[in-house]
Amino acid sequence: MIRHFLRDDDLSMAEQSEILDLALRLKADRFAERPLEGPRTVAVIFDKSSTRTRVSFAVGIAELGGNPLIITTADSQLGGKETPQDTARILERQVAAIVWRTFAQSGLEAMAEGTTVPVVNGLSDDFHPCQLLADLLTIRERRGDLAGLTIAFVGDGSCNMAQSYLLAGATAGMNVRIASPSSFAPAAAVVSDATRIAASTGGSATLFTDPVEAVTDADVVVTDTWVSMGKELETRERLAELGKFQVTSELMAHASAEAIFLHCLPADRGFEVTSEVLDGPQSVVWDEAENRLHAQKALLVWLLAKQ
Ligand code: CP
Ligand code: NVA
Repeated sequence: MIRHFLRDDDLSMAEQSEILDLALRLKADRFAERPLEGPRTVAVIFDKSSTRTRVSFAVGIAELGGNPLIITTADSQLGGKETPQDTARILERQVAAIVWRTFAQSGLEAMAEGTTVPVVNGLSDDFHPCQLLADLLTIRERRGDLAGLTIAFVGDGSCNMAQSYLLAGATAGMNVRIASPSSFAPAAAVVSDATRIAASTGGSATLFTDPVEAVTDADVVVTDTWVSMGKELETRERLAELGKFQVTSELMAHASAEAIFLHCLPADRGFEVTSEVLDGPQSVVWDEAENRLHAQKALLVWLLAKQ
């Protein structure tokens, strides 16, 4: 049965773990899987800017034997000119899968509904599930089993990364703490979904307004930009409200002595994180960025095998 990957909880705990296992295998042996041999094409559509997602999907699709077709909305008929459903009808007859970076989650749902090829969320306003696969892979490499680990996300709790941490972390059986001002808390529906998932995996989902409390004894500390793509008009109030949520060496000192620091990048150095932390010994952000490649290849192999 066709499967899509629109949000982190589209995968069960076992499925998430299976994809991470495969990602580790592909990292060790990059050309071990060639499901796109032919080459078959994968469409990768961007309504927003990207460096990592664009490069890692293009390289990954090529390494799986396929042909990456990168489409930017400005040069296409998408984006108000043609509906996601009609676009999918065109693409599905020619491509093996569709990856889409967009704004509204509802557009991805519309694209996936009734489509005959897998649709993958390459980042939406609500979630960034491909990034979470890379983050979990990085955490697994450094800290072993994910279940039982405590992660503290500090900053804009309403952004796609924080919300994806809630769903993916809960799925992995992790204790997910989100520290943000209450005006930048995650959506209640996402917290409730994470809490429900955590009840079956042994994890937990907890909101904090004090970054020190959230980070205390954490195994992993994470942040993301305070001004996500599409939120640029709110920059001034965001910087004012989020200023106390910067990840500094002083804040990191409250985490476990072996804690690692993650950031999906791009980073606004001196805002959500200091350069001292980003470039410091606890930071694993460059491995994390590389792991986009391995995690997404594993995801594509897995999705293509389900068809
Ligand atoms: N982390 C991430 O998705 O980066 P890009 O915006 O460069 O793709
Ligand atoms: N939260 C950020 C992630 C960028 C990869 C954004 O949506 O802009």
